[in-house]
Amino acid sequence: MTDFVEKDCQETPLFDPRILLRLDPSKFKAGYKNGVSPLHPGEHLHIRPLSIGDYEKGYLDLLKQLTAVGDVSKEDFIGRFSQMKSCEDTYFIVVIEDLKSGQIIGSATLVKEQKFIHHVSSRGRVEDVIVSDLYRGQQLGKILLDVLVALSQDLGCYKVSLECKDKNVEFYTQFGFQKTEGQNFMQLRFFD
Ligand SMILES: CC(C)(COP(=O)(O)OP(=O)(O)OC[C@H]1O[C@@H](n2cnc3c(N)ncnc32)[C@H](O)[C@@H]1OP(=O)(O)O)[C@@H](O)C(=O)NCCC(=O)NCCS
Repeated sequence: MTDFVEKDCQETPLFDPRILLRLDPSKFKAGYKNGVSPLHPGEHLHIRPLSIGDYEKGYLDLLKQLTAVGDVSKEDFIGRFSQMKSCEDTYFIVVIEDLKSGQIIGSATLVKEQKFIHHVSSRGRVEDVIVSDLYRGQQLGKILLDVLVALSQDLGCYKVSLECKDKNVEFYTQFGFQKTEGQNFMQLRFFD
Protein backbone atom coordinates (compact mmCIF):
# COMPACT_ATOMS: atom_id res chain seq x y z
CA MET A 1 0.00 0.00 0.00
CA THR A 2 3.01 2.31 0.28
CA ASP A 3 2.51 3.42 -3.32
CA PHE A 4 -0.69 5.09 -2.24
CA VAL A 5 0.88 6.99 0.63
CA GLU A 6 0.90 10.76 0.53
CA LYS A 7 4.67 10.92 -0.05
CA ASP A 8 4.49 12.96 -3.25
CA CYS A 9 1.51 15.12 -2.36
CA GLN A 10 3.29 17.97 -0.60
CA GLU A 11 1.14 20.20 -2.69
CA THR A 12 -2.60 20.22 -2.19
CA PRO A 13 -4.23 16.97 -3.32
CA LEU A 14 -7.69 17.12 -4.90
CA PHE A 15 -9.01 14.63 -2.36
CA ASP A 16 -7.73 12.91 0.76
CA PRO A 17 -5.12 10.32 -0.36
CA ARG A 18 -6.13 8.09 2.56
CA ILE A 19 -9.30 7.28 0.60
CA LEU A 20 -7.11 5.28 -1.80
CA LEU A 21 -5.40 3.54 1.11
CA ARG A 22 -8.65 2.12 2.39
CA LEU A 23 -9.69 0.49 -0.92
CA ASP A 24 -10.35 -3.23 -0.69
CA PRO A 25 -7.86 -5.07 -3.00
CA SER A 26 -10.31 -7.98 -3.29
CA LYS A 27 -12.52 -5.63 -5.34
CA PHE A 28 -9.91 -5.31 -8.12
CA LYS A 29 -11.15 -7.22 -11.15
CA ALA A 30 -8.57 -7.12 -13.92
CA GLY A 31 -6.03 -9.90 -14.38
CA TYR A 32 -2.45 -8.75 -13.73
CA LYS A 33 0.91 -10.24 -14.59
CA ASN A 34 4.63 -9.67 -13.83
CA GLY A 35 3.95 -8.56 -10.24
CA VAL A 36 2.09 -5.42 -11.35
CA SER A 37 -1.15 -4.48 -9.55
CA PRO A 38 -2.94 -1.36 -8.33
CA LEU A 39 -0.83 -1.64 -5.16
CA HIS A 40 2.37 -1.93 -7.21
CA PRO A 41 1.99 -0.06 -10.52
CA GLY A 42 5.67 -0.55 -11.38
CA GLU A 43 9.13 0.72 -10.58
CA HIS A 44 9.18 4.50 -10.06
CA LEU A 45 5.42 4.70 -10.64
CA HIS A 46 3.17 6.25 -8.01
CA ILE A 47 -0.64 6.40 -8.04
CA ARG A 48 -2.30 9.22 -6.12
CA PRO A 49 -4.87 12.05 -6.31
CA LEU A 50 -4.25 14.91 -8.75
CA SER A 51 -2.43 17.77 -7.05
CA ILE A 52 -1.90 21.41 -7.94
CA GLY A 53 1.77 20.79 -8.76
CA ASP A 54 0.73 18.46 -11.58
CA TYR A 55 0.27 21.51 -13.78
CA GLU A 56 4.07 21.55 -14.03
CA LYS A 57 4.23 17.78 -14.41
CA GLY A 58 2.59 17.58 -17.81
CA TYR A 59 -0.94 16.74 -16.67
CA LEU A 60 -2.57 18.90 -19.33
CA ASP A 61 -0.22 17.63 -22.05
CA LEU A 62 -1.37 14.14 -21.12
CA LEU A 63 -5.02 15.19 -21.50
CA LYS A 64 -4.14 16.58 -24.93
CA GLN A 65 -3.61 12.98 -26.04
CA LEU A 66 -7.31 12.47 -25.28
CA THR A 67 -9.02 15.59 -26.58
CA ALA A 68 -8.75 19.36 -27.10
CA VAL A 69 -7.51 21.13 -23.98
CA GLY A 70 -6.67 24.62 -25.22
CA ASP A 71 -4.43 27.16 -23.53
CA VAL A 72 -4.93 26.74 -19.80
CA SER A 73 -2.82 29.07 -17.65
CA LYS A 74 -1.65 28.09 -14.18
CA GLU A 75 -4.20 30.55 -12.83
CA ASP A 76 -6.97 28.86 -14.84
CA PHE A 77 -5.81 25.49 -13.59
CA ILE A 78 -5.73 26.51 -9.94
CA GLY A 79 -9.15 28.15 -10.28
CA ARG A 80 -10.75 24.99 -11.68
CA PHE A 81 -8.87 22.76 -9.24
CA SER A 82 -10.13 24.85 -6.32
CA GLN A 83 -13.72 24.72 -7.59
CA MET A 84 -13.53 20.94 -7.84
CA LYS A 85 -11.95 20.59 -4.42
CA SER A 86 -14.61 22.78 -2.83
CA CYS A 87 -17.29 20.35 -4.09
CA GLU A 88 -16.76 17.95 -1.24
CA ASP A 89 -17.01 14.22 -1.98
CA THR A 90 -17.53 14.80 -5.72
CA TYR A 91 -14.35 14.95 -7.84
CA PHE A 92 -11.81 12.13 -7.70
CA ILE A 93 -9.06 12.51 -10.29
CA VAL A 94 -6.46 9.77 -9.91
CA VAL A 95 -3.08 10.13 -11.61
CA ILE A 96 0.00 7.98 -12.10
CA GLU A 97 3.32 9.81 -11.89
CA ASP A 98 6.61 8.48 -13.18
CA LEU A 99 8.81 9.60 -10.30
CA LYS A 100 11.92 9.23 -12.45
CA SER A 101 10.81 11.73 -15.07
CA GLY A 102 8.50 13.70 -12.76
CA GLN A 103 5.75 13.45 -15.38
CA ILE A 104 2.09 12.47 -15.06
CA ILE A 105 1.70 9.51 -17.38
CA GLY A 106 -1.83 8.30 -16.65
CA SER A 107 -5.06 9.72 -15.34
CA ALA A 108 -8.73 8.88 -14.88
CA THR A 109 -11.60 10.80 -13.30
CA LEU A 110 -14.47 9.59 -11.13
CA VAL A 111 -17.30 12.07 -10.56
CA LYS A 112 -19.74 11.17 -7.80
CA GLU A 113 -23.11 12.58 -8.78
CA GLN A 114 -25.53 13.09 -5.88
CA LYS A 115 -29.08 11.81 -6.55
CA PHE A 116 -32.52 11.86 -4.98
CA ILE A 117 -33.35 8.52 -6.58
CA HIS A 118 -32.37 5.12 -5.19
CA HIS A 119 -32.83 6.35 -1.63
CA VAL A 120 -30.81 9.57 -2.06
CA SER A 121 -27.98 7.57 -3.52
CA SER A 122 -25.09 8.58 -5.79
CA ARG A 123 -23.95 7.53 -9.22
CA GLY A 124 -20.34 7.29 -10.32
CA ARG A 125 -19.26 8.55 -13.73
CA VAL A 126 -15.90 7.59 -15.16
CA GLU A 127 -14.39 10.25 -17.42
CA ASP A 128 -11.15 11.16 -19.16
CA VAL A 129 -9.27 7.86 -18.98
CA ILE A 130 -5.84 8.28 -20.53
CA VAL A 131 -2.47 6.56 -20.42
CA SER A 132 0.45 8.28 -22.15
CA ASP A 133 1.20 6.72 -25.52
CA LEU A 134 4.74 6.01 -24.23
CA TYR A 135 3.37 3.84 -21.41
CA ARG A 136 0.45 1.96 -23.00
CA GLY A 137 0.31 -1.82 -22.68
CA GLN A 138 2.00 -1.74 -19.23
CA GLN A 139 -1.24 -2.50 -17.32
CA LEU A 140 -1.64 1.10 -16.18
CA GLY A 141 -5.07 1.58 -17.78
CA LYS A 142 -6.28 -1.51 -15.94
CA ILE A 143 -4.91 -0.13 -12.67
CA LEU A 144 -6.66 3.22 -13.14
CA LEU A 145 -10.01 1.57 -13.92
CA ASP A 146 -9.77 -0.97 -11.13
CA VAL A 147 -9.06 1.82 -8.67
CA LEU A 148 -11.96 3.97 -9.90
CA VAL A 149 -14.43 1.08 -9.83
CA ALA A 150 -13.37 0.07 -6.30
CA LEU A 151 -13.49 3.74 -5.31
CA SER A 152 -17.03 4.24 -6.62
CA GLN A 153 -18.17 1.23 -4.59
CA ASP A 154 -16.31 2.45 -1.51
CA LEU A 155 -17.98 5.87 -1.88
CA GLY A 156 -21.42 4.25 -1.85
CA CYS A 157 -22.42 4.74 -5.49
CA TYR A 158 -25.31 2.51 -6.55
CA LYS A 159 -23.77 2.23 -10.02
CA VAL A 160 -20.89 3.53 -12.11
CA SER A 161 -21.06 4.23 -15.82
CA LEU A 162 -19.01 5.57 -18.71
CA GLU A 163 -19.20 6.38 -22.41
CA CYS A 164 -16.64 4.98 -24.79
CA LYS A 165 -15.85 4.23 -28.42
CA ASP A 166 -16.58 0.78 -29.86
CA LYS A 167 -12.85 -0.04 -29.90
CA ASN A 168 -12.65 0.36 -26.10
CA VAL A 169 -15.70 -1.72 -25.16
CA GLU A 170 -13.59 -4.83 -24.65
CA PHE A 171 -11.19 -2.94 -22.40
CA TYR A 172 -14.00 -1.87 -20.06
CA THR A 173 -15.75 -5.26 -20.05
CA GLN A 174 -12.95 -6.75 -17.93
CA PHE A 175 -14.02 -4.56 -14.98
CA GLY A 176 -17.67 -5.66 -15.20
CA PHE A 177 -19.05 -2.83 -17.38
CA GLN A 178 -21.77 -4.05 -19.73
CA LYS A 179 -23.57 -2.46 -22.65
CA THR A 180 -27.25 -1.98 -21.82
CA GLU A 181 -29.69 -3.24 -24.42
CA GLY A 182 -32.02 -0.51 -25.61
CA GLN A 183 -30.06 2.33 -23.96
CA ASN A 184 -28.31 4.98 -26.02
CA PHE A 185 -25.69 7.58 -25.34
CA MET A 186 -26.90 10.94 -26.74
CA GLN A 187 -25.20 14.31 -26.78
CA LEU A 188 -25.65 17.82 -28.06
CA ARG A 189 -22.33 19.56 -28.54
CA PHE A 190 -22.22 23.37 -28.23
CA PHE A 191 -18.51 23.79 -28.88
CA ASP A 192 -15.20 21.88 -28.77
C1 LIG B 1 -7.51 2.60 -23.36
C2 LIG B 1 -6.26 2.82 -22.55
C3 LIG B 1 -6.59 3.70 -21.34
C4 LIG B 1 -5.74 1.46 -22.05
O1 LIG B 1 -4.62 1.69 -21.24
P1 LIG B 1 -3.32 0.75 -21.32
O2 LIG B 1 -2.45 1.12 -20.18
O3 LIG B 1 -2.71 0.80 -22.67
O4 LIG B 1 -3.95 -0.69 -21.13
P2 LIG B 1 -3.47 -1.84 -20.13
O5 LIG B 1 -2.06 -2.21 -20.50
O6 LIG B 1 -3.72 -1.50 -18.72
O7 LIG B 1 -4.51 -3.02 -20.39
C5 LIG B 1 -4.85 -3.42 -21.61
C6 LIG B 1 -5.53 -4.78 -21.51
O8 LIG B 1 -6.86 -4.62 -21.99
C7 LIG B 1 -6.98 -5.29 -23.25
N1 LIG B 1 -7.70 -4.41 -24.17
C8 LIG B 1 -8.87 -4.69 -24.73
N2 LIG B 1 -9.30 -3.67 -25.48
C9 LIG B 1 -8.37 -2.73 -25.41
C10 LIG B 1 -8.26 -1.42 -25.99
N3 LIG B 1 -9.17 -0.92 -26.78
N4 LIG B 1 -7.18 -0.70 -25.69
C11 LIG B 1 -6.21 -1.20 -24.87
N5 LIG B 1 -6.27 -2.44 -24.29
C12 LIG B 1 -7.35 -3.18 -24.56
C13 LIG B 1 -5.55 -5.56 -23.72
O9 LIG B 1 -5.51 -6.69 -24.53
C14 LIG B 1 -4.83 -5.77 -22.40
O10 LIG B 1 -5.08 -7.07 -21.90
P3 LIG B 1 -3.93 -7.87 -21.09
O11 LIG B 1 -3.54 -7.06 -19.92
O12 LIG B 1 -4.61 -9.14 -20.72
O13 LIG B 1 -2.79 -8.04 -22.03
C15 LIG B 1 -5.13 3.47 -23.38
O14 LIG B 1 -4.89 2.67 -24.51
C16 LIG B 1 -5.40 4.89 -23.83
O15 LIG B 1 -5.09 5.82 -23.09
N6 LIG B 1 -5.95 5.08 -25.03
C17 LIG B 1 -6.19 6.39 -25.60
C18 LIG B 1 -7.24 7.15 -24.88
C19 LIG B 1 -8.56 6.41 -24.77
O16 LIG B 1 -9.04 5.80 -25.73
N7 LIG B 1 -9.13 6.48 -23.57
C20 LIG B 1 -10.41 5.87 -23.28
C21 LIG B 1 -11.48 6.86 -23.49
S1 LIG B 1 -13.07 6.11 -23.27
